[in-house]
Amino acid sequence: MSQPSSDTQRQPAIVILDFGSQYSELIARRVRETEVFSVVLGYSTSAEELRRMAPKGIILSGGPSSVYAEHAPLCDPGIWDLGIPVLGVCYGMQLMVQQLGGVVEAATGKAEYGKAPLEVDDPTDLLTNVDNGSTMWMSHGDSVKALPEGFVRLAHTANTPEAAVAHLQRKLYGVQFHPEVMHTEHGQHVIERFLREGCGTPGDWTMASIIDTSVEQIRQQVGDKPVICALSGGVDSAVAAALVHKAIGDQLTCVHVDTGLMRLNEADQVIETFEKNFGVRLIFVDASERFFSALAGVTEPEAKRKAIGELFIRVFEDAKAEAAGGSDGRRAEFLVQGTLYPDVIESGSEHASTIKSHHNVGGLPEDMEFELVEPLRSLFKDEVRQVGSELGLPDDIVQRQPFPGPGLGVRIIGEVTPDKVETLQHADFIVREELAKAGLEREIWQSFAVLPDIRSVGVMGDERTYGYPVIIRAVTSEDAMTADWARIPYDVLEAMSSRIINEVPGVNRVAYDITSKPPGTIEWE
Ligand code: XMP
Repeated sequence: MSQPSSDTQRQPAIVILDFGSQYSELIARRVRETEVFSVVLGYSTSAEELRRMAPKGIILSGGPSSVYAEHAPLCDPGIWDLGIPVLGVCYGMQLMVQQLGGVVEAATGKAEYGKAPLEVDDPTDLLTNVDNGSTMWMSHGDSVKALPEGFVRLAHTANTPEAAVAHLQRKLYGVQFHPEVMHTEHGQHVIERFLREGCGTPGDWTMASIIDTSVEQIRQQVGDKPVICALSGGVDSAVAAALVHKAIGDQLTCVHVDTGLMRLNEADQVIETFEKNFGVRLIFVDASERFFSALAGVTEPEAKRKAIGELFIRVFEDAKAEAAGGSDGRRAEFLVQGTLYPDVIESGSEHASTIKSHHNVGGLPEDMEFELVEPLRSLFKDEVRQVGSELGLPDDIVQRQPFPGPGLGVRIIGEVTPDKVETLQHADFIVREELAKAGLEREIWQSFAVLPDIRSVGVMGDERTYGYPVIIRAVTSEDAMTADWARIPYDVLEAMSSRIINEVPGVNRVAYDITSKPPGTIEWE
């Protein structure tokens, strides 16, 4: 069985315990923005485990429950004896208060949702430099009625007597408002005060230190063994490859598998960049026929992903003797993958349900023979780009749009055939070319074409047509966790539409997908 590399080797300075809040990842981002490394863990993480991890601080997220409800998610009460500073946010604050002997009740008639001005009672600690009357974002139906022993009020609002509280000696803090959301004025400042003054975290998780730590970990993990990397041409695998190349140089061989499901001319670009510019050892495998036969008759999205994921690994296994190189006949034992933090959470953990079994995680076969090297496992996409730039990768790679591992396979709805791939490649190329011409590439997270499994009637030059529609999908996003459809100017959409219909045989209609994520996902499958 595969052994995913562990990102717990890198000790997080801050642990965020997630009680089911939609904002937990946002808290993680805010903490990272202060150059402090944080991870989000399930609320039931034991005090013992936390003691071993020895973070400098713990943040308890908000959550939809009431702390006094029968099945409310509770943290291990041992946490309060660890001597580690804690910041409780909303539900997290109420939990802190309740577990330490205070009282939380329904705020009868006084629930507070939306903006509220904060009255600061103690401007000397957590709320230093937070102006009286600053707008806070509130979202709660319960309120703290009595504080535990040793706690003091730091701030209140008209409806919430205990809007910020603390046990100053024990460095336990609670805020009823959400400091992580944009609408809270000085929210980032409050988080930073907690991190710097409360926890004493210096803010040294810079790109340079991320690279140094990763390089060290990669060397420790693989020793002098040969390593291969699946280089798809996307940002993630490119940055992962560059990072591993920096760590172990020629021990790394990159393998570019042409699955037949790549974008137009993609293989040439990969060879150009990595082999010619970076001097990375590169093996090129044309496996398109194998992929097409594995996909014949497969229409269900998860089955497609599994088929593609499995064959991918098989192809690598075939290539690994060659990849290991050298005369001693050693075989590659490690496989680099550009798995990102959002991939890890979306593939299902204690606190997130499985959305798609993809993202290089769930799609791998059980009996895979490689140990995984996943140096980007704790990073968000924008952080990966920064790492790439810091490593000296050119902008046209680092700023490149993400491309899914299963490639065009998840953009062709229904059965994947070589003909359909050709149609889609062509349409996709036009979408990207027109977007680039309009100078919109950087603003847009991903833009591509989708080929649905339907046909419609049209008329072209007096003739009735019965052809495929192409769906244009273009989204803006910060990290692919959420996305909005891009407001592409009509003239750009028009240029895409008329070129696709004129230039791509078999296509007689173009539609634009105006679905955000959620409820849609970025890809169609
Ligand atoms: P969804 O469709 O879940 O996609 O909103 C979120 C981001 O992940 C990319 N994606 C994948 N990346 N392997 C990958 O490496 C995959 O199987 C995969 N599926 C989706 C998608 O393009 C978007 O950026």
